[in-house]
Amino acid sequence: MKKLILLLVAAMTLMLPVAGFAAPNGEAIYQKACSVCHNTGIAGAPQLGNKAAWKERNARGVDDLTGVAIKGKGAMPAKGGHSELSDAEVKAAVEYMMEKGK
Ligand code: HEC
Repeated sequence: MKKLILLLVAAMTLMLPVAGFAAPNGEAIYQKACSVCHNTGIAGAPQLGNKAAWKERNARGVDDLTGVAIKGKGAMPAKGGHSELSDAEVKAAVEYMMEKGK
């Protein structure tokens, strides 16, 4: 029994870093791919942390906003110009921005 518990603990410890890699880090992706425009609000980009700019957008929901961010809109290129990002990574960055705009 003791051995089994030890094995379980070892297995869980091994799985943790894998889970960390699997879930994209929204803040890191934002800093890399989105902050250039969204930190200052260049060219009409909704600024990070600007609650007035995000109130209506947050109400539209994460899927709608992620769809727009993937395709691009107006002065915003598709995926902010970072075509190497997966859709899940763009979504994580959008979630980070939505959270900051609450
Ligand atoms: C080159 C500058 C630029 C970069 C880089 C950029 N954006 Fe934008 N973003 C904009 C502009 C400009 C708008 C406003 C577009 C409009 O409403 O016409 C915008 C709007 C948005 C919106 C709101 C869309 C809507 O329908 O209201 C979201 C969400 C968004 N960006 C997410 C992101 C994410 C996520 C990234 C990084 C992966 C990113 N942006 C990178 C310029 C940029």
